[in-house]
Amino acid sequence: MDFVTTADGSKTLYNAEIGECYHSKHGAVQESKHVFIKTGLDHFVQQTGASEVAILEVGFGTGLNFLQTAEHIGDKSFQVDYVGIEGFPLPLATIAETGYDENVDATIWSAYLDNYEAALQQQVQIHERLQLTIAHTLLMDFQSEKRFDVVYFDAFAAIHQPEMWSDVALAHVAQFVKPRGVFVTYAITGNLKRSMKSLGFSIEKAPGAPGKREMLRATKL
Ligand SMILES: C[S@@+](CC[C@H](N)C(=O)[O-])C[C@H]1O[C@@H](n2cnc3c(N)ncnc32)[C@H](O)[C@@H]1O
Repeated sequence: MDFVTTADGSKTLYNAEIGECYHSKHGAVQESKHVFIKTGLDHFVQQTGASEVAILEVGFGTGLNFLQTAEHIGDKSFQVDYVGIEGFPLPLATIAETGYDENVDATIWSAYLDNYEAALQQQVQIHERLQLTIAHTLLMDFQSEKRFDVVYFDAFAAIHQPEMWSDVALAHVAQFVKPRGVFVTYAITGNLKRSMKSLGFSIEKAPGAPGKREMLRATKL
């Protein structure tokens, strides 16, 4: 896989087999901050005042959304238990080449690189308020006793991987979401809205990241 530089100067990976990049070409870091941190995590914490937040990411990939979360909570008081689902984990050497150290504190970056491979086997402590587990499994095989407050749904686009956006896949994810939990993704379509509604979520159109007019935020009733 090759690296591509996006509009905000941060890199992404191009997956030739799927025919798509891991992030928006309009800015990988900007997309991560806007879609997942601001519209997902921040919104949830503002609404609930939670002191502990369990985050589930579908499609952990390079860990950019995890790193942005780690950086963001640095000056906050809440704890985060982060679980990323990843069917095809990247080698550590590829992660090290992303250049995402430019966007996070040096201690977060080194703790991430030091613990990445261990996180694929078990839960690891990145710092005192942040735990990480990377579940090396296909989405449909993921099982957990945990229930989550915020879902970062970061699958490849439906045009390339429709099965990830099917009713069955979304229902599989929805079972892990707590009441009042928030599901965010960079896209919004009629099918996605209908599926999430039928799974017991209220739907909001939120402004999209650069290059996209709108995105979906769904809250479990
Ligand atoms: C759009 S990329 C995610 C980018 C990632 N969030 C990041 O910041 O690098 C989609 C991810 O989903 C993973 N994936 C594809 N099919 C999957 C499946 N069936 N189950 C779990 N993960 C899958 C891919 O390997 C890829 O890492």
